[in-house]
Parts: sequence; structure tokens; C-alpha cells
Amino acid sequence: MTVYRQPLYYEIAFSFIDAKRQVDCFEEIISKFSEIKVRRVLDIACGPSLQLREMARRGYETIGLDINSEMLEYLRAKAKEEGLKIETVQADMTNFKLRKKVDYAFIMMGSFNFKSNEALLSHLNSTAASLNKGGLYFIQNFGVNWKIDWTKPKKQSWETEKNGIRVKATYETHVKDVVNQIITEKITLNVNDHGKKQTFTHEEDLKLVFPQELKLLIKLNNKFEFLGWWAGNTDWWHLNQPLEKTEESKLDTNMILLRRK
Ligand SMILES: C[S@@+](CC[C@H](N)C(=O)[O-])C[C@H]1O[C@@H](n2cnc3c(N)ncnc32)[C@H](O)[C@@H]1O
Repeated sequence: MTVYRQPLYYEIAFSFIDAKRQVDCFEEIISKFSEIKVRRVLDIACGPSLQLREMARRGYETIGLDINSEMLEYLRAKAKEEGLKIETVQADMTNFKLRKKVDYAFIMMGSFNFKSNEALLSHLNSTAASLNKGGLYFIQNFGVNWKIDWTKPKKQSWETEKNGIRVKATYETHVKDVVNQIITEKITLNVNDHGKKQTFTHEEDLKLVFPQELKLLIKLNNKFEFLGWWAGNTDWWHLNQPLEKTEESKLDTNMILLRRK
């Protein structure tokens, strides 16, 4: 997982997001759907979490959970530099327990991906055990391969630059096993850090979950209400645009909203 051991380069590669706008949208969604007041929030698979840094600035108690110590060290260092208080928990999102429950949980940038349906169910159990009743679980960009042609390979690249560090990121998937719905995901970062060129990659097999399969798994888990799924752009999600009414090319940028029963 070398890409995820490079928090600075990861953050630069994904610095096209606008965390302020995302958190404005969270607050709008919370005011519409949460049955509880939100004080304490959890970012699952948080990475460098620009979102938690924005939420800590707005006065929320913030917790970042990630499996990689490098990401969490970076997040703590950033919090210190910015004068913010952010707790970190190093754990696997398919099996974790928090010391104190939160009122709102979120997972961004397509991180809601698992090796099996059992792992997804286990993740829902852990998240449910960490979230107060009536609290929301916000999932961004689930199911990157929810397409009619889901077996077709995918590839996209983009470039970003910050403080003289240039990062070209490439995201690719291809199908490994049709019957078991297994895809291989590959992320590559080509970095030019003031003339020093390096390449980092992350490759992982993941079990694809189709939309109706996801709904059934949520039902089977029985700890969350499914409130809906909507289209959006990177930073904002449109409550007037359910996925059923979204054209296929725009299904990738979605949000799914669950509420703890
Ligand atoms: C696509 S990045 C998302 C980071 C950040 N949330 C964002 O929006 O940019 C995925 C993150 O998940 C973490 N991760 C991968 N597998 C994990 C697991 N099983 N449990 C917890 N974190 C995991 C990686 O270390 C990485 O920071």
C-alpha cells in the first residue's frame, strides 16, 4: 500500500476537493436528516482528512480512523500545525470499536470498498456500534463500477501541483473474476518533488457490490435505515437528484445516506 504510506503526495493528488463546501453540505444534510444533535464526528478511512480539519475548525470533536500509521501521523502533525484537536484511531474499518460513540460518521472518496460481502457486513456492525441512535452515516462515491459495462477496464489520470511538488495520479480498474465480482484496483502516483522523481502504487482486489445487492446487505445487517442515494459533484450532493434519475455517466459521484436505528 505504498500510495497510502505517502500522505503528503496523496493529499496533493486529491487536493482538488473543497472541504469547506463538503462540510457545508454535511451540515445541511445533518439539519435535514439527523435525529440527534451532532457534536462528535468520525471520518472512516480518513487519510489526511481535509474534512476533519475543517470540522475541528468549526468546533466539532473529531476522530480519524485509518489502518495506516503514516496517514494518522500526518493528520496529527497537520492538526498541531493548524492548532486543531483531532483524535486518531489506528484500526481496520472492518473491525473496530471506539472508546466513545459519535453522532455522525462519514467515509469519502470511494473508500467504502471491501474484499467480501462478509467484510462489508462486519464494517456495518463496527460502524453501528460506534454511532449513536438517530445519527447519520454518509458514504461518498460508492460503487465506481456501477455501470452497464462494468466488466470494461477503466482508467483516468489527472495532475496537481502544490509548493513545487507535481503529482500525476492514475486510477485504473479491471475485472479479475466475473462470477465472484472481483475487480483489481490500481492507483499510481508519479511524483516530481523539486526534481526528485518517484512512483508509488497501490493495487488491491475488491469485491464489487451492485446497487440492489448493497440495499439487501444493509437490510440484512438491520442496524441502519437506508435514507437514499443521490448524485452530486466532488463537493456537493443534490437531494433532488436520486440515482434512479441520474444518467449512467454521472453515477460515480454519489452519496448514500444511512441512519442508525
Ligand atoms: C481512497 S483513500 C481516502 C482518504 C480520505 N478519506 C480522502 O477522502 O481522501 C483510502 C484510505 O483508506 C485507508 N484504508 C485502506 N484500507 C483500510 C482499512 N481496511 N481500514 C481502515 N482504513 C483503510 C488508507 O490508508 C487510505 O488512507
